Amino acid sequence: MNTDIYKNITDALVKDGYIIIEDALHTDIPAKLLHYIKQQNSLQKAGISNNRYIDHSRRRDKTLWIDEDNNIQTQFLQFTNRLQKYLNTSLYLGLSYYEAHFALYEDGDFYEKHLDSFKNSKNRIITTVYYLNENWSKEDGGELVIYNKENKILTKVIPKTNTLVIFMSEDFPHEVLPVKKERYSIAGWFRVDKK
Ligand code: OGA
Ligand code: NI
Repeated sequence: MNTDIYKNITDALVKDGYIIIEDALHTDIPAKLLHYIKQQNSLQKAGISNNRYIDHSRRRDKTLWIDEDNNIQTQFLQFTNRLQKYLNTSLYLGLSYYEAHFALYEDGDFYEKHLDSFKNSKNRIITTVYYLNENWSKEDGGELVIYNKENKILTKVIPKTNTLVIFMSEDFPHEVLPVKKERYSIAGWFRVDKK
């Protein structure tokens, strides 16, 4: 892991509002996380929750919230903790905590275009997405499409292992195109409210 990563991320968020980093963390980290998540059978079907009604037509993936007490996840959370401190020190963002979940998209799964900050709340300030897929090619689908506020496509990200995407949660609509094979990621959010 290169120590300038915190500064690079901070500078990019100020300048562009988003950044995509390939080979972001030490290579041990994604390999261990992938091994761990493949062994779990407790991933939950995710949907868009509108009070009690869960709409699976807009989102089809399975998720598992990251657990601070789990060793394998500690290295990843060490990175996000340091990033949170760096962002707070340099930009006075007042980020209070980070929440994250593993997500599994299987053949045909997708997540339609959305914003990560909840309606009428500005709790989710910065989004991170970290990919765990070895040997991903264009034909496998599942790209993350990032749009600007005018809904023009800014970029498409191939979800290959150790690629990290970070963006301002309120400013970038994004979607996950349908996947053709198992796709693993960790989606996370820096927030400003109390846990
Ligand atoms: C999300 C999300 C993107 C991805 O979970 O909100 O947009 O590439 N995930 O997994
Ligand atoms: Ni999202």
